[in-house]
Amino acid sequence: MTDPTPTRNIPFFNYKGAFTAQEDSYLAIVRDVIRRGAFIQQRDLAEFEEHLAAYLEVKYAFGVGNATDGLIMAFRAAGIGPGDEVIFPSHTMVASPASAAHCGARPVPVECGPDHLIDPRAAEAAITPRTRALLPVHLNGRTCAMDSLMTMAERHRLIVIEDAAQALGSRFRGRFAGSFGLAAAISFYPAKILGCFGDGGAVVTNDDGVARKIRLLRDHGRNEQGDVEMWGLNSRLDNLQAAILDFQFRNYQEIVERRRRIAALYDRNLRDVAPLRLPPPPDSEPDHFDVFQNYEIEAERRDELREFLRLAGIGTLIQWGGKAVHQFAGLGFHVDLPFTDELFRRLLMLPMNMMVMDEDVEYICTKIREFYGV
Ligand SMILES: Cc1ncc(COP(=O)(O)O)c(C=O)c1O
Repeated sequence: MTDPTPTRNIPFFNYKGAFTAQEDSYLAIVRDVIRRGAFIQQRDLAEFEEHLAAYLEVKYAFGVGNATDGLIMAFRAAGIGPGDEVIFPSHTMVASPASAAHCGARPVPVECGPDHLIDPRAAEAAITPRTRALLPVHLNGRTCAMDSLMTMAERHRLIVIEDAAQALGSRFRGRFAGSFGLAAAISFYPAKILGCFGDGGAVVTNDDGVARKIRLLRDHGRNEQGDVEMWGLNSRLDNLQAAILDFQFRNYQEIVERRRRIAALYDRNLRDVAPLRLPPPPDSEPDHFDVFQNYEIEAERRDELREFLRLAGIGTLIQWGGKAVHQFAGLGFHVDLPFTDELFRRLLMLPMNMMVMDEDVEYICTKIREFYGV
């Protein structure tokens, strides 16, 4: 059925390409930072943090080792610990609930809705007298409907920590993901929209008390005088990574626009393919500004389609190795989440990054149409 020699090679993500696209600029940054001997908590980190906070319209941003550490520190700063329950959507990376578990709390998985984001009604139904916090995950670069979630959290006196690992720049009703709850974590993993050359993350907050604690927690619990005020971690964003991120961040608006253009192209070419369900295209909903960290579709005969695309030279990905968090037997969850289970038989992510050309999208869509015979 398939052409044996693919006419194109489109990896799901081209890690090398992320560097070679601007190799000279990156090498100049690396040389400059290393020649200055500026490695830990230096000027480049402070500047990046300032730019990030200003962009997100939040009071504070702290560069940390990665978003997982960021979430752990956010929960710790919020006082979440043993005996507490934290509600999260099972369609997420295991890092989200792991962060609550590492604080001694019990993560409670719930269903997502047709938008692949936490279902507010399922979240409310999971509340018990022990529930202390809600962990909405702004998956795929789309902000959860934070109005209903924040109202519900207020009604039940829950702390909201946002997992904005995949959502830098996405907005709900004009407000940025990460700026709704008590604190949020963002990831700069290499394949993220803003990605460094290794691990990296940030915690953002508007709360003075949380900010003070994150500052301590990421640096061994030490204050500016070197006095240790609490047990901390060593989880500071490397100054070198901050310099690289700050350079990329200058063009963030264009990066986001490019991703939205790719999403619009996928939508234009695939919207009439009945066996697929696509994410809402850019600007189709006034409440949402999506940044498309991923282009996650639902597809009938998903595994066959994936293999067909592979043979055509097209890389795709199924998030989290194909399992929602509650499906990992080793984690010991015993819950019934039929909607999420069914969704995970259909989820597939198409290439979505700055290396993807318009012609690549056309080719991918042609192949998908060929597969379904439409
Ligand atoms: C939804 C979500 N949460 C948390 C994380 C963890 O981020 P990090 O790899 O920076 O620890 C990721 C990373 O991929 C993620 O996608």
